[in-house]
Amino acid sequence: MDPVTNPYAPGAGTPPPELAGRDELLRQVDIACQRIRAGRHAKSVLMIGLRGVGKTVLLDRMRDNAEGAGIHTLRMEAPEGRSLPALLAPQLRQALLRLSRLEQARELGKRALRALAGFAKGLKVKYQDIEVGIDFDPEPGLADNGDLEHDLQVLLEAAGQAAKAAGTALVLFIDELQYVEEEQLASLVTALHRCSQQQVPVMLVGAGLPQLPGQMGRAKSYAERLFDFPFVGPLEPAHARAAIAVPAAALGVAYEEAALDRIVAATEGYPYFLQEWGKHAWDTADDSPITLGDVELASVTATAALDESFFRVRFDRLTPSEKRYLRAMAELGPGPHRSGDIAALLDRRVTTLGPTRAQLIAKGMVWSPSHGDTAFTVPMFDAFMKRIMSREDWLAD
Ligand SMILES: Nc1ncnc2c1ncn2[C@@H]1O[C@H](COP(=O)(O)OP(=O)(O)OP(=O)(O)O)[C@@H](O)[C@H]1O
Ligand SMILES: [Mg+2]
Repeated sequence: MDPVTNPYAPGAGTPPPELAGRDELLRQVDIACQRIRAGRHAKSVLMIGLRGVGKTVLLDRMRDNAEGAGIHTLRMEAPEGRSLPALLAPQLRQALLRLSRLEQARELGKRALRALAGFAKGLKVKYQDIEVGIDFDPEPGLADNGDLEHDLQVLLEAAGQAAKAAGTALVLFIDELQYVEEEQLASLVTALHRCSQQQVPVMLVGAGLPQLPGQMGRAKSYAERLFDFPFVGPLEPAHARAAIAVPAAALGVAYEEAALDRIVAATEGYPYFLQEWGKHAWDTADDSPITLGDVELASVTATAALDESFFRVRFDRLTPSEKRYLRAMAELGPGPHRSGDIAALLDRRVTTLGPTRAQLIAKGMVWSPSHGDTAFTVPMFDAFMKRIMSREDWLAD
């Protein structure tokens, strides 16, 4: 089929042609945003899921919906190694400048911008990466203590009051939340808690890897009551089929039932894999309908493409000892695995492997579903590790 019209979209954060199976989640967030704006209580929402399940595209869609409903939003992605205040300050400034243009929010908007100036000034010593334009002089005593927990509360509350005055709400959309340091996460939780107590319309919609609820709970024990943690998983078979069939049907192309079954089985319904399989099935087929034979041929090129993109970018960030650790896990199967079993395979003691495991968690490669257990955060990473590292490679030293 013509590659120019190929509808599928494998790629990090690339919107799919059909966002299948997420209506309920979209509705949940939509309702929460509207409740917050109406001055009612709603929990912040943190979506939890493995790599490639569609968290980023969901956040973007939710944000578009919120903006469309007149809600003011901020969009951030926590990068490894940057502070939350540095990330937040410029985004908040943009949102506050937009809010201050509204007649009813002018005064409170200015006050919030003064709070932002105090926030940046006070925290600059500790978080040197904060860089934000200053529009108004700080007001002494307003968010300028130099203590993140305190200043962030005051700042978000001031921002929320400006939003409230304009009859809207402020919703923070933050991706990759697991990379935010626990102390900074704790401050964010406290600030959101404060806003909710004061009935100020500020809410967080976040996304992160499965370790996030645990990190949140360690940061602030009451975090679990403050947030909903919906799990974003692979698509159920009917939705996975729709993700493949609907975009093709829109272009007048059909699939054999057996072809769809084969794609669902090979991808286990994981959205990133579905896009890759769809793309290769389309490019392989000569005509409609796309057949089981086409899909079988496409499986080879789809796997190779995933190896070179989705899996490869993660593998390349690993040190040799991290690679060996993951390779040993792969030897044991998809997981989760006991730390003791992994150590035994590597002929090492669990304690000496502790630092490697901790680095892998920090890099977002593995997580711990329960004490002493280790699981991949990337679906089907075990099979990839076996393809890329032969037995001799990892048993060598
Ligand atoms: N509901 C869906 N239906 C069909 N395809 C989807 C769906 N959600 C996401 N995708 C596709 O899956 C791929 C991965 O999406 P996305 O980057 O949002 O995942 P993610 O969970 O943010 O991954 P990561 O943890 O690696 O950042 C994209 O190509 C996207 O188009
Ligand atoms: Mg993402």
